[in-house]
Amino acid sequence: MKKEDYKKIEIKLVEEISEEENEVIKEVNNSFSKEDLFLEFEKKKIILNLKLIDLDKFKEKINELTKGLSNNQFLELIKEIEKIKSYGLKSGKRLYVGYNKERKVKDRKKKAQARELHYYANDHDFPKENNEIPKGYENKIICGDSEEVLKKLPDNCVDLVFTSPPYNFGLDYENHDDGVHWEKYIEKLFAVFKECIRVLKYGGRIVINVQPLYSDYIPIHHMITNFFIQNKMIWRNEIIWEKNNYNCKYTAWGSWKSPSKPYLKYTWEFLEVFSKGDLKHPGDSKNADITADEFKEWVLAKWSIAPERKMKDFGHPAMFPEKLADRILKLFSFKGDIILDPFNGVGTTTKVAKETGRRYLGIDPSKEYCEKSEERLKNISPQKKLSDL
Ligand SMILES: C[S@@+](CC[C@H](N)C(=O)[O-])C[C@H]1O[C@@H](n2cnc3c(N)ncnc32)[C@H](O)[C@@H]1O
Repeated sequence: MKKEDYKKIEIKLVEEISEEENEVIKEVNNSFSKEDLFLEFEKKKIILNLKLIDLDKFKEKINELTKGLSNNQFLELIKEIEKIKSYGLKSGKRLYVGYNKERKVKDRKKKAQARELHYYANDHDFPKENNEIPKGYENKIICGDSEEVLKKLPDNCVDLVFTSPPYNFGLDYENHDDGVHWEKYIEKLFAVFKECIRVLKYGGRIVINVQPLYSDYIPIHHMITNFFIQNKMIWRNEIIWEKNNYNCKYTAWGSWKSPSKPYLKYTWEFLEVFSKGDLKHPGDSKNADITADEFKEWVLAKWSIAPERKMKDFGHPAMFPEKLADRILKLFSFKGDIILDPFNGVGTTTKVAKETGRRYLGIDPSKEYCEKSEERLKNISPQKKLSDL
């Protein structure tokens, strides 16, 4: 390793380095691979040669080794590392050297302009003026068919739609036939989505959680995306929700040990994210409630979250977990925003919306599910922390 292979961080000391500080340096160097990082000192300087670091582990080590030190300069080192906002990620560690070598595209902006960003959506004719949601629809659970209910709302009055439609898997819903011909299913789904686009504010977002029925060979996540981009929405993100579970029979191989017709298995669902008119959603930064650590973690678009385990208790066959709704709401909306779930089930979205200080509208045709949603909304103290979920 040459010294140029490291980023140097220097801490100036008031006095010459002490015996104890020297010991800390030795111990740190023994605890981390020299390929990743090492400390050295000059008379009045501690120098960190930094390439790759597990910052939490480094902090832990420094805290452990410097407990008795009166003037702990090593904490300054940590502060200096945290100040560096630009780094790569490698095996869960921060990489500070050579991480952008692959970026060889010259005149990046000019080329992007020539290609034309989200070209398929730029000739939209969405109205830009946003409206307030009528009071009778604010903070409400409405029992009915979304297509019909949403027709009563004005254009551009919802900030974020977050929903998971029925997947047509043949599940036992209280008041919905979940096994119709795909054409009929798609026709109804898209009729609801068309209304969602209309009621969405300019700059608002729609997030659809969906899983294809692989055994029917229907790529519904692609069909939904295609529908939205044909309707001039900007496809802005795709999040993989890794559930780490196998729902299919372990023996369902298709063709065992043969390429004639292998059947693949999936442990994840998709979240497709769309913007109306503009990628930017205006809002006051004091109404953003995502923390720095959450932001850093959640912008990596593969989320490992366990599926909802209490569906039996709620009497609903296809809920998503509160944690998923919490992430979507904090990443894509501000406190005070209007959140719509047009397939609200037993109200996971509306519950989390209330808890996080958003306003909400949830729609479902089942009276039983709507009553459960109302129950979940009772006794919620807004802003409750969801970290224990
Ligand atoms: C996948 S579930 C949503 C579950 C919800 N995310 C939760 O955690 O409780 C889909 C829901 O859509 C509802 N649904 C079916 N057709 C509908 C329609 N036309 N309008 C509104 N909701 C509908 C079903 O009753 C079902 O509860």
